[in-house]
Amino acid sequence: MGEVNIAVVGATGAVGREMVKVLEERNFPVANLVLLASQKSSGEFLKFNGKKIEVSELTKNSFKNIDFALFSAGSSISKKYATHAVTAGAVVIDNSSAFRMDNQVPLVVPEVNPQDAFKHNGIIANPNCSTIQLVVALKPVYDKAGIKRIIVSTYQSVSGTGKKAIDELMEQTKAILNKKKIKREVYPHQIAFNILPQIDEFENNAFTREEMKMIHETKKIMHDDDIKITATAARVPVLYGHSESVYLETEKIMDIKSLKQIYLKMPGIKLVDDIHNAKYPLAIMSEIYDEVMIGRLRKDLAVKNGINMWIVANNLRKGAALNAVQIAELLLGSQEK
Ligand SMILES: NC(=O)c1ccc[n+]([C@@H]2O[C@H](COP(=O)([O-])OP(=O)(O)OC[C@H]3O[C@@H](n4cnc5c(N)ncnc54)[C@H](OP(=O)(O)O)[C@@H]3O)[C@@H](O)[C@H]2O)c1
Repeated sequence: MGEVNIAVVGATGAVGREMVKVLEERNFPVANLVLLASQKSSGEFLKFNGKKIEVSELTKNSFKNIDFALFSAGSSISKKYATHAVTAGAVVIDNSSAFRMDNQVPLVVPEVNPQDAFKHNGIIANPNCSTIQLVVALKPVYDKAGIKRIIVSTYQSVSGTGKKAIDELMEQTKAILNKKKIKREVYPHQIAFNILPQIDEFENNAFTREEMKMIHETKKIMHDDDIKITATAARVPVLYGHSESVYLETEKIMDIKSLKQIYLKMPGIKLVDDIHNAKYPLAIMSEIYDEVMIGRLRKDLAVKNGINMWIVANNLRKGAALNAVQIAELLLGSQEK
């Protein structure tokens, strides 16, 4: 692979920092790495491949000679600056929700719909973190047996909201343990020692925006508007890793043994399913493994084509930074051919 110039927009954030790490860990062929954030972080340094790289303030002129611009600074920043990056000749891989449902913008998970990445017009969207891990688990079932219905409930970590939310959970936990008053800024309620059945704003249909993202994005990635999917998204006092309880109804009956065999062979999936030894995916395991972990696989007792499972992945990595870097790798690989 030839070396390329990369810009990370939102480099000082929870996802941005992970992007810099993932680029290094995967030996991504970086010629020049440009780190961009708000004016507040300008002059800060981040480490990459043993070197300290200074963070610069994002401006519309930040993208000269950039090949890939990895955006993770929120949707308003993406809407404002992505076109400047594209005009300068970069391919934008955007982690925000700004362009995900735009018909001109592919929404890509490399294990699921890699071919879509090549249909871009300068911008490729990374799906929502809870959608990414869901579709990785769904894809082999969909291909083998078809899927009629999905019921998913999420248990999402606070790092999914960004670095301020990580601080809020830690501070509230300390305050409660020290019998002090808690401070609340990021979430509408106390998050420490609690569960919030609300992620993002409510829409007119009583679902939250996060739940609707999962519904719309799953259909777009799977190219199937007929999948019946419903979601409940909850925020839990966990630092890293989103967990999901997933119930599927397949078109054809699928036995659990063959599903396990398929998952064992799938790149990007780690089967962790040994209930007799209390082995199943845990949120804390997502700090070690990059794969989408799947366990608690079992047949529904009431519906013959129903399957239950528990899936966990790192929201900052496979749910954001890693997926974005994998998309860039996919495009680079194709340029080589
Ligand atoms: N967290 C996740 O698990 C996750 C997963 C998938 C997608 N995403 C998406 O990724 C994006 C970032 O999320 P995050 O969790 O990393 O948030 P975060 O920790 O709050 O980081 C936000 C980043 O954006 C930068 N930023 C804010 N305002 C800016 C401005 N005016 N100009 C330039 N940079 C600016 C911040 O820079 P300063 O440090 O200088 O303020 C920081 O680097 C969001 O769109 C989010 O929806 C997040």
